[in-house]
Amino acid sequence: MKSLRIALTKGRLEKDSVALFEKIGLDCTAVREKGRRLILPIGNGEIEVVLAKAADVITYVENGVCDLGVVGKDTIMENGSRFFEILDLGFGRCRFALAAKKGTDFFTGYKEKTVASKYPNVSRQFFESRGMDVRIIKIEGSVELAPLVGLADGIVDIVETGSTLKENGLEVIETVSEISARLIVNTASLKMRKAEIEILVAKLETAIKERE
Ligand code: PRP
Repeated sequence: MKSLRIALTKGRLEKDSVALFEKIGLDCTAVREKGRRLILPIGNGEIEVVLAKAADVITYVENGVCDLGVVGKDTIMENGSRFFEILDLGFGRCRFALAAKKGTDFFTGYKEKTVASKYPNVSRQFFESRGMDVRIIKIEGSVELAPLVGLADGIVDIVETGSTLKENGLEVIETVSEISARLIVNTASLKMRKAEIEILVAKLETAIKERE
């Protein structure tokens, strides 16, 4: 039988994903000792892991070349969802927040505000829900720099420990939404490989509950 293929976000979520798979009894030696390999068998080969960047996890799952994916809610919110989000995996917890230079009164004044973010769609939706007209500038990395150099009045970014903001004289104005890693599934796979997926999800759910 063909392996179930899971796209795994490499980097931050990788270690916790592997720990969770090991907790349900899947041997993850190949992932732990991966070297530069990108497709790795886990368990007895019944599952194949594909390591990818977060946004690509979604692309692989949406296009059906991976049955499942582990990806942050942040990436899901920014990229939309033509797939099913079936489980909150409980790790990778952080939040989206609006932040600005310490002491900034962000919501007052008549001048249109400028906000920098790696997540323009999330930012747009947040300000639309507030009925606020805001100019959004897309930044690729270290968004914290934008208010410091005068490019933006604020940023919408991921806050985990808060130390990046603190060390750069910025502070949270408001939480936009909570984030954690999610298990996503291709819509066709959920029908075609329902039994296998349900067994895997049930095991994961039990492991997550035990951990909490
Ligand atoms: C994220 C985010 C912040 C930082 C927040 O960046 O964009 O810069 O983490 O974490 P903290 O609250 O614990 O300080 P990341 O390190 O993922 O790098 P990136 O800029 O490449 O996305």
